[in-house]
Amino acid sequence: MLGFACAALVATACAPLVEQPDAGSIRAARQAALQFDQRMAPEIIARLQRDEDPVAVWLAYADHVPDWGREISNEVEVEFSRTALGVRNPANAPDDWERQQMEQMSFMLDSGLDAATLDVAEIRYEGDEEVFRWMRPILMTEECLVCHGENIGHRVKLLLGQEYPLDEATGYSANQLGGAYSVRQVLSVGGKPPPPWSDIPAPVVAPADARANDDAPLVSSPPDSSTPASDNLP
Ligand code: HEC
Repeated sequence: MLGFACAALVATACAPLVEQPDAGSIRAARQAALQFDQRMAPEIIARLQRDEDPVAVWLAYADHVPDWGREISNEVEVEFSRTALGVRNPANAPDDWERQQMEQMSFMLDSGLDAATLDVAEIRYEGDEEVFRWMRPILMTEECLVCHGENIGHRVKLLLGQEYPLDEATGYSANQLGGAYSVRQVLSVGGKPPPPWSDIPAPVVAPADARANDDAPLVSSPPDSSTPASDNLP
């Protein structure tokens, strides 16, 4: 009865209160994604367009790109990252919310919607944290296919096999959804203001071009799932 009364009165007055993301948060998220694009264009894409050796570009990519997310996060003071439905580096795997958004983006792109209209922004509660979350689709272009396409050159394939044995990010064609930029910003914790931003420290990783063939892969395999859990106990 109450529901009917609501509908009959002013519908909006009865709608649940969904908190709208703040324009400043959306601006910071877009700024972070733009910074990533602005680095990718000259440092990776332009080099491939000039027909530079893909292995040289690979080394530049492996040495620098994985850390851009952290660098940009510290600059913009929100957690910024790239993820995908099938990842090359398991450290970039999506959480449930991100996976859901990308599945939806993929569906909308397949239905012919323009990627530029598919940004999502939402305020959510995760545990005792109130968070702003934002995502923007990333489409594959011809240049990306050198390392993410169907016919990857022999030498890049060898590097991929060596450094990313768990790779799930090949077989793409141009204009497919290659992944998404993702921003997560804590707005409050237990109803109180979050602690001030503290910079994410740099990881200690050997540079790709100083790595030897028999070095362990950059990405390690998960523990063998066929091993009973009790065998892993100390
Ligand atoms: C020179 C090779 C190379 C090129 C060109 C390249 N990528 Fe990647 N890509 C990689 C590597 C290596 C990683 C893993 C980075 C890491 O360890 O975090 C990666 C990771 C990613 C990820 C993060 C998720 C994951 O799979 O770990 C996305 C998204 C992505 N690439 C999209 C693109 C797009 C879009 C383009 C073109 C604009 C592109 N890449 C061009 C080599 C490349």
